[in-house]
Amino acid sequence: MGAFSGGNARRGDTTDFLWFLETYFVFVPSVIFVLMPIIKKLECSRCKETVSAETPQTLCPKCKGSFYVRYDLQQLRGVAARDAAIARDSKKTAWPGMWRYGAVLPEVKPVTLGEGWTPMMRSKRHPGAFLKEEGTNPTGSFKARGLALAVTMARHYGLKKLAVPSAGNAAGALAAYAAAADIEANIFMPKDVPFANYVEAIAHGANVTLVDGLISDCGRIVAERSKSEGWFDISTLKEPFRVEGKKTMGYELVEQLGWEYPDAVFYPTGGGVGLIGMWKAFAELEELGWVNPGKRPRMIAVQSAGCAPMAKAFDAGADVSEMWPHAATFASGLRVPKPYGDSIMLEILRESEGVALAIPDAEILVSLLDWAKNEGIFLSPEGAAATAAYDRLLASGYLKPSDRVVLFNTGAGLKYTDVTAEAMGLKRPTAAA
Ligand SMILES: Cc1ncc(COP(=O)(O)O)c(C=O)c1O
Ligand SMILES: [Zn+2]
Repeated sequence: MGAFSGGNARRGDTTDFLWFLETYFVFVPSVIFVLMPIIKKLECSRCKETVSAETPQTLCPKCKGSFYVRYDLQQLRGVAARDAAIARDSKKTAWPGMWRYGAVLPEVKPVTLGEGWTPMMRSKRHPGAFLKEEGTNPTGSFKARGLALAVTMARHYGLKKLAVPSAGNAAGALAAYAAAADIEANIFMPKDVPFANYVEAIAHGANVTLVDGLISDCGRIVAERSKSEGWFDISTLKEPFRVEGKKTMGYELVEQLGWEYPDAVFYPTGGGVGLIGMWKAFAELEELGWVNPGKRPRMIAVQSAGCAPMAKAFDAGADVSEMWPHAATFASGLRVPKPYGDSIMLEILRESEGVALAIPDAEILVSLLDWAKNEGIFLSPEGAAATAAYDRLLASGYLKPSDRVVLFNTGAGLKYTDVTAEAMGLKRPTAAA
């Protein structure tokens, strides 16, 4: 693994040495300080303040902005360095998955369940459309990428108790990775999350609290209790490593398209970690010279009309979103009434010449059933929001059928059988005999 050892040290030697140190310190619980791998600094997304990554960080102390992880990428520049780094990192474990990009991730021993390197499938009916099937990740969603890295770093820092407010899938992913790392997971999620999210979190041994409210209420509880309970809060964009894990989607889609950018990326948007992570990946890919020259994709943020703070803010030309009242949608991952990273997302949407769309649940369901019947793919409601948005932008002429687009199915449809059945009005029939 490794972001970059610097100097003349051979990477393998450095890595082994770091793993030895890490192992040693993990077994000495009173020692919090660990030798940090080669992250150059954490940089505030708003005011550019920098801090060291040697100890766990949350938000910028000056302005409460989110931190980005910054490396020195000089020695990795160019296609030859790219191919060598990926070939080397791909050999490290049987299923390297997202860790094939270990050269641009923190140099620590991963907590892995086989996340990443998900299929990029061409649509049967739309020649320009590729479906990025994130439902094949461990825990059935793309949340695995961010939580794999956040838990990896938590173990590295010697943290013992983590807490997260979640719309559902982040909870399941935290529960699984925390179990794999022997870390305590404290989860707060709305009481009406898809049942699979509740079952998986309980099965993995997490402490689960179902809240009569939304993720914003859950976030408030985590913030209020973290200090007294000794929890480290890994809320969306309130620590730097979930974005860093999700940036691998940007590297991966570019590699899977032959190191070329697509024309547009459709991203079902709640808190926006993936959108922000992919944009970071594109900037890094350009700095590294790993992507063929071309225009970055238009970023299309897709929301449900039942909770569309980003679409509303984008349409209004605003710099921040407003709290969405009475948020309700069966695309549970999109039920984020006021994303913490709203201003970063709005900047990205404008810079990419993209757009934010609000799709009614009825239209999401139509697209879900369309893809199930005609493509053989059982989308999550969030993924079906992306496919519905694609249909709209084709119909409006914003996109041409020949434009290359990546549609993110961020979760497996099978995690949502209860909420999708309810949206379909489908009940289990009584047995005939
Ligand atoms: C399946 C699915 N898609 C999309 C999202 C939204 O992700 P983000 O918060 O990164 O915007 C979520 C969040 O829970 C989700 O579970
Ligand atoms: Zn700041």
